[in-house]
Amino acid sequence: MSSRKLYIETYGCQMNVVDSEVVVAILQQHNYQLTEEVTEADLVLINTCSIRDNAEQRVRSRLREFKRIKQQNRGVSVGVIGCMAERLKEKLLEEETVVDLVVGPDAYRELPALLQEVESGQKGINTLLSMEETYGDIRPVRMDRNHVTSFVAIMRGCNNFCAYCVVPGTRGRERSRDPETIIREATGLFNKGYREVTLLGQNVNSYRWVNGSRDLTFENILEQVAKIDPLLRVRFATSHPKDMSDELLRVMARFPNLCKAIHLPVQSGSSAVLERMKRKYTREHYMERISAMRKHLPGVSISTDIIAGFCGETEEEHQQTLSLMEWVGYDFAYMFKYSERPDTFAANKYKDDIPDEVKSRRLQEIIQLQNRLSLESKELDVGQTYEVLVEGTSKKSEEHLFGRTSQNKVVVFPKGTFKRGDYVDVTINSCTSATLIGTPVQS
Ligand code: 5AD
Ligand code: SF4
Repeated sequence: MSSRKLYIETYGCQMNVVDSEVVVAILQQHNYQLTEEVTEADLVLINTCSIRDNAEQRVRSRLREFKRIKQQNRGVSVGVIGCMAERLKEKLLEEETVVDLVVGPDAYRELPALLQEVESGQKGINTLLSMEETYGDIRPVRMDRNHVTSFVAIMRGCNNFCAYCVVPGTRGRERSRDPETIIREATGLFNKGYREVTLLGQNVNSYRWVNGSRDLTFENILEQVAKIDPLLRVRFATSHPKDMSDELLRVMARFPNLCKAIHLPVQSGSSAVLERMKRKYTREHYMERISAMRKHLPGVSISTDIIAGFCGETEEEHQQTLSLMEWVGYDFAYMFKYSERPDTFAANKYKDDIPDEVKSRRLQEIIQLQNRLSLESKELDVGQTYEVLVEGTSKKSEEHLFGRTSQNKVVVFPKGTFKRGDYVDVTINSCTSATLIGTPVQS
């Protein structure tokens, strides 16, 4: 039987990147081959995100383009998978007539069966969430371009129910992946030449595997992955400030290959806003955790997520976010305007009462401050020497390579005889707010 061609596009978080790789693995076993040309595909899948309204709008505009392609190539099927599929369910089939298939994040094993239904002229839909599914036994088909860095999912779902967030609704309850399969996958990547893995979960600190006498926590699994090889760098995302333990910081301090970068989303610098967001920590607790991170891990870099203009946010509460950012001195941040999401606690209980122009102005102030903090953080690196893991050729110059420091900062330097996957000691000579520029240390 001749094989069919699958084209897949991925939006949203890193977990979606891995999910797409799982989907490709499942479909490859059913005679589908990946193509990078949407026009030659028999099946077009779009793996979607619902986190903010603009993420969904982007997907809808892509679907309009797929509609044009379908008009030219009547044989092609279009499927929506991921968080938007889960959130909208049948509504998506009604609203977007181009769509043949709707599959939620826990139903990817059903794709081959659903595609048979689609082939017989029906629409296919499965949005059941699961308490157990982790796709632990499936080896994702990697679609990264550098063959140096990759993601390994260790848990799925979220039990936190932050007031603004759709994720507990689109990805269901927390469940952890069998540790054997995590170690096997990370070891396999290292043996293939990969030199960095990022352990992924919506809330990695909640990783827990209990089986007979075994009781493994996130700290345990992190240590096991770190021990695979000292040449394998290990990162993780995302952590919740309420669960960031001293034990985790001690494990990170013990292993040089556990990268000294922590992403710790704060969302707001005001305890009152944090309470309305149902974040389960205060400004003071967050600051205490930052102090603990700096104590256990000198030189650690810290990044965050911030939401501007959450329900009821006063000018003073916004100022508290700015002052906390300044106090922490974040190395990097993702910054967003609050976007009300249907069926969340905030949508049900609060008014989205901050006018859009106020949200925009506050976000601008946050971005401007972060630009300065990012530059200051890079300026402190000038004159220092860092070990850089090379990821590829610089976008701007064939003669330069780029890679990252353990602190997750991008470094660009002259190529010499180095190549992807090498560790190179680089002395930093100058910087921008986004990039460090250096020269390799002569050996
Ligand atoms: N509006 C704006 N930003 C949001 N995030 C999550 N939900 C929303 C929302 N409704 C942000 C948070 C989270 C990141 C992944 O996206 O900062 O940490
Ligand atoms: Fe988007 Fe969140 Fe779903 Fe990831 S889990 S795709 S960020 S809505």
